[in-house]
This record gives sequence, structure tokens and C-alpha cells, in this order.
Amino acid sequence: MRKPNIAILGATGVVGREITSITTELGVEFESIKFLSSAKSAGTKLQFQGKEYTVEEATPESFDGVDIVMASAGGGTSKHFAPEIVKRGGVIIDNSSAFRMEKDVPLVIAGVNDDDLRNHKGIIANPNCSTSQLMLVLKPLHEKAKIKRLIVSTYQAVSGAGLKAMNELTANTEAHMAGKDFTNEAFKKPIAFNVIPQIDVFTENGYTKEEMKVTNETKKILHLDENTPISCTAVRVPVYRGHSEAVDIEFENKITPEEVRSILKDSFGVTVIDDIDNYEYPTTRDADGKDPVYVGRIRKNIAFDNGISLWCVADNLRIGAALNTVRICKKVIEMGLFGSK
Ligand SMILES: NC(=O)c1ccc[n+]([C@@H]2O[C@H](COP(=O)([O-])OP(=O)(O)OC[C@H]3O[C@@H](n4cnc5c(N)ncnc54)[C@H](OP(=O)(O)O)[C@@H]3O)[C@@H](O)[C@H]2O)c1
Repeated sequence: MRKPNIAILGATGVVGREITSITTELGVEFESIKFLSSAKSAGTKLQFQGKEYTVEEATPESFDGVDIVMASAGGGTSKHFAPEIVKRGGVIIDNSSAFRMEKDVPLVIAGVNDDDLRNHKGIIANPNCSTSQLMLVLKPLHEKAKIKRLIVSTYQAVSGAGLKAMNELTANTEAHMAGKDFTNEAFKKPIAFNVIPQIDVFTENGYTKEEMKVTNETKKILHLDENTPISCTAVRVPVYRGHSEAVDIEFENKITPEEVRSILKDSFGVTVIDDIDNYEYPTTRDADGKDPVYVGRIRKNIAFDNGISLWCVADNLRIGAALNTVRICKKVIEMGLFGSK
């Protein structure tokens, strides 16, 4: 099989930079690669696999001859370029929320629902970062005991909102420590030494868009019944990198904490750290720069029948975005799902 021509769209952003380095880490084989951004960063020089590349401004013609595009340039940019990519016979693996819930667009976590990739029509969507880490944990448990009801509370790092938000945490913190006034642009409230119960805009039902993404994307990826009750509260915390989640699950069938530990110990992409006698449980710092979703505090939930509560943390920029994108890219190549598939 021939090797694909690849483009990284949004290469100068937080996620795009991770995609670039993980492409090397995972040994993605390609014929050619190009790096694209807006006019703002065009001309930037990038070192990649021992060679210097110049970042180019993305135009429709940039995608001539490109087989696979890994995109992390925002929803508007993806909506603009996806038809151009597909028209030219390319496949776009998109990190934005632009296409996730569209019927003909597979929403995929590599290792969870790879078979859905076979149905793509040129666009493949990468789930929201909070959904992503949750899926690797829930899939094997759902297979064993069937999810009946789910409640998730997220504690999300500022890098989930991009480079500007990371810089705002630094600027806010420095100003606070110096006793100076500061303003906020990336967030509605000060983020330094604070916890903000709003991620993305509010929707009609009082939940935020981020919370509804977790709800709807979980149902789509796990092929759950549309009526499965799922509730999420998404919270921004002053952490640069790493999302944490408190998860309460009610199952149809009985499942014990011991069984959950044993299943997750053998599951793809998951590492269990769970020994409360020795204060062993994962924190966001444990996940920084790492691939697995770390799970701990596994216990029987005393509010539900057949209930389990657990805590999971993961690097939002890796499994929550770039790592899954590059894993999908590898699957697309291995499964021969680019070119004339
Ligand atoms: N951060 C996360 O944890 C995370 C997780 C999942 C999904 N995502 C999604 O991934 C996307 C990127 O997020 P990010 O955090 O990496 O943002 P970011 O740091 O702000 O980077 C955005 C990138 O997109 C490029 N871009 C913007 N407008 C463009 C245009 N019109 N044409 C071509 N390129 C354009 C930027 O180029 P310039 O340098 O030229 O501006 C930059 O390379 C967003 O859709 C976000 O929702 C992010």
C-alpha cells in the first residue's frame, strides 16, 4: 500500500504542535508532509524529523494531492476547508466540534470504536477532550455490565481553551502575586486561584455546550440508547495541563470494584493507580505528557444500585486531542481508508 501525503492544519497551535511531535513518536509513515496555519503564522520555520519546514497559509489549493489532513484550527476553519479537502479526495481528521454529531461523520476514539471509521465519507471527528478520556474507561465496563445512568463532573485544565488561555493563567497568577489588577479575556472570571463552573456557552436547558458535548458524544461513541440518562458538570480549574473527572456510573448488571479494577488493568490506554491505604491515586500531574488515562478511587457507589464511582485523569492535549488524532491517522492508513478506499 502506498504511503499518504499528509497535512497538519493548525500546526502552530497548542494541539497542532502536539500532533506534530506525536506523528514522529508513533512512527506514522508518509510520502510527504506539510504544515498549515492562518496568514498570521505563515512563514514560521519548524524543525521536523531533522528537516526544516516553512509553515504555509492554508488555502483550498494547499490540499491538492493531500490524502490525510489532521486538523486543529477551530470549527470555522474546518467547516471552510473540509469540503475542499473531501472534493480533492482527501480525508480530514478534525479536532473541532464542527462535525462531531453529524450522522455521516464517524466520531472515533482509537481502540474504542475503530470499526466506525469504515463508514467515513471524508470527514472523521475527534471527540471533545473530556469525552475522550472517559470513553477509554467506560467502553470495557459497558461491555461487561451495560451502562444504565452516568453522572460526570470534570475539572478541566486551561490548555483545553488554547494558547491564549494558558497565557492568561500565567498573567493572572503573576498579577495576583504582585498585588496588581488584571483583566480576563479567555474566561468570564479570573482563573488564577479560582474554579469556574462554566466551559463554553450556556444552552437552553441550563447546561453548557461543553457539558452537552460530553452527554451527546458519549451516546454516539458507545452506541448507547438515546434515552440513557447522562448528566455532566464541566468546571475550569487553574491547571495548565490535564483534565480530571469524577465519574458515577449505574450499571444494568452487578459489577464489583474488584472486577472494575481487574478489567481496567487489562484495558487499552488505561492505567490503574488505586491503593488508598498507601494514598495511591492519580492526580493531574501524573498525567502530564503521558498517554494513558489514569484511574483510581474505584469504589462502590452507595447512591445507586449496581453503582461504581471512580476518578480519572489524562493529558487533555494528548488523549483529549492530538494523540487520538494521530492514532486515528495510523488506523486510517492501516485499514486502507484513504485514497480510493
Ligand atoms: N486544546 C485542547 O485541549 C483541545 C482539545 C480538543 C480539541 N481542541 C480543538 O482544536 C482546535 C485548536 O485548538 P488549540 O487549542 O490548538 O488552539 P490554538 O492554540 O489557538 O491554535 C489554533 C491553530 O489554528 C490555526 N488557525 C486559526 N485560524 C485559521 C485559519 N483561518 N486557517 C488556517 N489555520 C488557522 C492557528 O494558526 P495561527 O498560528 O496562524 O493563528 C493555529 O495554528 C480547536 O477547534 C479546539 O476546539 C482543542
